[in-house]
Amino acid sequence: MKKILFGLTMLMSLNVSAQNPVYLDETKPVEERIEDALKRMTLREKINVIHAQSKFSSAGVPRLGIPELWTDDGPHGIRAEVLWDQWNQAGWTNDSIVAFPALTCLAATWNPEMALLYGESIGEEARYRNKSVLLGPGVNINRSPLNGRSFEYMGEDPYLSSKMVVPYVQGVQSKGVATCVKHFALNNSETNRNNENVVLDDRALYEIYLPAFKAAVIEGKTWSIMGSYNLYQNQHACHNKRLLVDILKGEWGFDGVVISDWGGVHNTMEAITNGMDLEFGTWTNGLTEGASNAYDNYYLAVPYLKLIQSGKVTTAELDEKVRRVLRLIYRTAMNKNRPYGNICSEAHYAAAQKIGEEGIVLLQNKNKILPIDLNKAKKILVVGENAIKMMTVGGGSSSLKAQHEILPLDGLKMRIGDRAKVVYARGYVGDPTGSYNNVTTGQDLNDSRTPAELIAEATMEAADADYVIFIGGLNKSNHQDAEGADRLQYDLPYNQSDVINALSKVNKNIIVVNISGNAVAMPWRNEVSAIVQDWYLGSQAGLSLASVLMGDVNPSGKLPYTIYEKLEDCSAHSVGEFVNERRKQVYDVHYKEGIFVGYRYTDMQKKVQPAFPFGYGLSYTTFTYGKPVADAKTMTADGKLIVTVTVKNTGTREGQEVVQLYIADKKSSLPRPVKELKGFQKVRLAAGESKEVSFTIEKEALSFFDDMKHAWVAEPGKFEAIIAASATDIKGVVPFELK
Ligand code: GLC
Repeated sequence: MKKILFGLTMLMSLNVSAQNPVYLDETKPVEERIEDALKRMTLREKINVIHAQSKFSSAGVPRLGIPELWTDDGPHGIRAEVLWDQWNQAGWTNDSIVAFPALTCLAATWNPEMALLYGESIGEEARYRNKSVLLGPGVNINRSPLNGRSFEYMGEDPYLSSKMVVPYVQGVQSKGVATCVKHFALNNSETNRNNENVVLDDRALYEIYLPAFKAAVIEGKTWSIMGSYNLYQNQHACHNKRLLVDILKGEWGFDGVVISDWGGVHNTMEAITNGMDLEFGTWTNGLTEGASNAYDNYYLAVPYLKLIQSGKVTTAELDEKVRRVLRLIYRTAMNKNRPYGNICSEAHYAAAQKIGEEGIVLLQNKNKILPIDLNKAKKILVVGENAIKMMTVGGGSSSLKAQHEILPLDGLKMRIGDRAKVVYARGYVGDPTGSYNNVTTGQDLNDSRTPAELIAEATMEAADADYVIFIGGLNKSNHQDAEGADRLQYDLPYNQSDVINALSKVNKNIIVVNISGNAVAMPWRNEVSAIVQDWYLGSQAGLSLASVLMGDVNPSGKLPYTIYEKLEDCSAHSVGEFVNERRKQVYDVHYKEGIFVGYRYTDMQKKVQPAFPFGYGLSYTTFTYGKPVADAKTMTADGKLIVTVTVKNTGTREGQEVVQLYIADKKSSLPRPVKELKGFQKVRLAAGESKEVSFTIEKEALSFFDDMKHAWVAEPGKFEAIIAASATDIKGVVPFELK
């Protein structure tokens, strides 16, 4: 009897261990499970998990039951399913999703709560679509308004981008989906992104271009980062020792996976030693179209295996890469506590609409023409192609197959109903096409009329209109806010300025709605009554815009970048270099403007004023600021200073105001901008309500990066805390001293 019992016990224990080896045992710490899995993997299995197996997936370990990793674009919504080894959509019928507003709109909300809502919503859509890695968000700094992908990023200021990217990352990852913050680093132009070698000083690198990535890693704890296409110090960013080994994994302690941009790897040895963990691409050598399914030829595939088998390299770096990839798999695909997610829920549509409403920026409102008063309107004329053109398709890898997209004209008609007659005139013809990777809009926007005929129709209709709403801007077509193709001009394309000027001659109640992800020239801004900076708002675009124009929502957006009068007022074009004509060979581009990007540059130009400054945005109500006060006149390096200001809503309706804190270092051993954004708070105030807003200033807010010491330093001396409603609307200055 005893023997049988003993045998049973043994069997039981064996069974238990056989059922739950450590790498599969949920009760064990992840790091232990990773080591156990690593021990069990063959060399070939290790090589398999560090490069793509299909266009958007990398292998797991089938033999051990370790799942593969599915990634997908993009920052604004979950890309349509593609065939195994294609860019084109697979034609599934279950992958239409919610298109959320572009990230410039999210940045323009200046509201971290919106960033969390955004991350949670898009994270649920990614989760439901069974994607473990969302290839976004992008946080490259808007150095020039010609950069094709600015619409995917969060503006010109590193502090604003840092504060807005962290909640987005936390929101997505709370759903068991990894973010892949991109494009690390210095990918600030598109046309020659694969062969542009960025040359800049360490101050600009550390003070302007790295902070948002650093925040995403250290505060957001992003589980992956995407290496960019460009070069830095003549080394491709996807295997750049300084960026990936010294800074990302060294200084910042990043424990996640560095994923290459698609085709961003060009060299096996550099990829092995310089911190590239997971190579994705576009066929054989990562860039040029080669034999299909050539995933074994990737740089971190068989070529790497051969180097190990020939003894030229050890498996030390391989094991480190595999550890990171396994960690990413454990955090996502093997995390049994993940929620299930959902797509196209009412909540997601509501989130998309709300983020859009909070991000729209009212730039000008002469005679308070806005909000539109339907009691005064019998006829409302809407002009412009962007009122009827779908924007969720196109622009590059962030293109989407949206379940629906409510266009501006539709949104206005739905909102206005029969309260007024809404008439539409094309005004101009821009890009009548609408397809990307076989996702098509189904729209037929062809119009053979000449510009003169189109303008004649619009002005004729405008003559007796109570309101004229011109809806134009850019459209994510080639060179009009698109990946891989920077803009070729700062002016609006398709003779839109002629249309606006013609309209302004026949009607003074012109409202210009500019849909774009970049600043554009507005030479007509004194000829029109109102100007609204609208964004690529996705599925609910027309509803968000109508809510603001009709006054259902009080606009509270603030510009995340400077709208220059002319391109030469932008430092990337007047001091630095920006190359947007196509070049074949690797070339240097010098960021000679250094840290003086955006308002950091225009603040220094006495003669030049921006058309509309960074941080600017009007409301349908008004706000006044009291005198800001500090709780002390001095602070110590390890101390803090609290600055408080009272803000009052002096108008007749509730509104939100973004109180901005800039810091001025009155005397520094190295050149510094006049002031830099170091705090902001968005406050909601009822009509007549006042609120105290406080900022806690610590030495980080006073510091600059000393590239000789390779350290952040806060130098004792005089500083000013500047409370402002935009980069040029200073409400109060509080001097203090750092002892
Ligand atoms: C593209 C983009 C990147 C995208 C990736 C996959 O080239 O640069 O943002 O996530 O490839 O589509």
